[in-house]
Parts: sequence; structure tokens; C-alpha cells
Amino acid sequence: MTTTAFTYRPEHPADDAEIEALHAQAFGPGRFARAAFRLREGVQHDPALSFVALSGDEFIASVRLTPITIGGRPSILLGPLAVKPAYKGKGAGKQLVRISLAAAREAGHRVVLLVGDEPYYGPLGFTRLARGAITLPAPADPDRVLVAGLTPDALEGLAGKAERIATGPRGTR
Ligand SMILES: CC(C)(COP(=O)(O)OP(=O)(O)OC[C@H]1O[C@@H](n2cnc3c(N)ncnc32)[C@H](O)[C@@H]1OP(=O)(O)O)[C@@H](O)C(=O)NCCC(=O)NCCS
Repeated sequence: MTTTAFTYRPEHPADDAEIEALHAQAFGPGRFARAAFRLREGVQHDPALSFVALSGDEFIASVRLTPITIGGRPSILLGPLAVKPAYKGKGAGKQLVRISLAAAREAGHRVVLLVGDEPYYGPLGFTRLARGAITLPAPADPDRVLVAGLTPDALEGLAGKAERIATGPRGTR
């Protein structure tokens, strides 16, 4: 893999427009129907656990983490993770995952869920549970429902519905 020196920092409110544009480019209009989107809908991601990558001053990639529950347990959803096309394959995606997981662990979180490719996320600490152990609020390929435990026994007995954190009657804060 090519290694390139990028810098990484927590997301700022001023990054919003670039992040939204990157999501539109990477995932298209279908992103709003994704199961992971439904878990985030109307919920503020945690800016202290969400990071951007820069090349010099240029924004190149982002990862967002959002609180959810799984079977009633406080957990974290990782995603979207997206890298600008010109910067793919240079390590920024994996580094953003590593940094955000370390920050989540530091903040006392125990379980991280994502919907994504096991070959990519497996080496970063994510694994599949038994098929159907975790259900999402919209259809998702069960082989792509992955979790990481941030403490040694965090995944023990983990099962149930992954749910959006209730934020009031209209889903707003
Ligand atoms: C997927 C994505 C985030 C990866 O970021 P990246 O910075 O390009 O990836 P990295 O440089 O950290 O890692 C590259 C390595 O991962 C591999 N890889 C990339 N996507 C992969 C995938 N979907 N499955 C398996 N391996 C993958 C590459 O082949 C490369 O392997 P190497 O290290 O052996 O050369 C990026 O390609 C992207 O933004 N894609 C579009 C949006 C998307 O699909 N996001 C993920 C949603 S779950």
C-alpha cells in the first residue's frame, strides 16, 4: 500500500458542506434508504468521535460516529466512511477507522456497529455475529452487519434490535 502523510483531526462544524458533498458523491441518492442511514436519521453524530483527513489544507475524507443502541445496550454506529476518489487506496480510510475506534474506546464506549465489507473492516477489528443476531431498522445484507468490541467481553451476549436513539416525537433534538 502507498503510504501518504495525511493529517487527521476531529470534525468541525465548518466541515459539514464538504462532508455532505462527499457523501452525495460516494453514495448517491440511495444513501437515504440505507439501513445505516435510518439509524442516524435525525440523530446528531458525535463530533468528538468523528474525524476528517486532510492533505495539506484540503479536506479528503471523513468518518462519522453516532450513538445507537443494540438490544438496549448503548453502542456506536460507524459510518459513513468516505474518501475522495483521488485519494483512495492511500490509507486514509483505515486510519480514520483506527482513530475513531481509539477515541470511542477512550470515551468509554464498548460496542461499534457498521454495515460494510468484512474484507475491509475485518483487519480493523470488526467481525460478524451469528446471522440475524442483530436486526436493523431496514433491510441489510446480514453478511455486512459487523461489530467491534472495544473491551474484552463487550460482544458477549450482544443481540437484538439496533435502534436509533430516540430524540423526541419528531426525531429532532
Ligand atoms: C471504502 C473506502 C472508504 C476505503 O478507503 P481508502 O482510503 O481508499 O482505503 P485504504 O487506503 O485505507 O485501504 C485500502 C485497502 O483496502 C482495500 N479495500 C478498499 N475497499 C475495499 C472493500 N470494499 N473490500 C475489501 N477491501 C477493500 C484496498 O484494496 C486496499 O488494499 P491494500 O491495502 O491491500 O492495497 C473508500 O474507497 C470509499 O470512500 N469508498 C466509497 C464509499 C464507501 O464505499 N464507503 C464505505 C461504506 S461501508
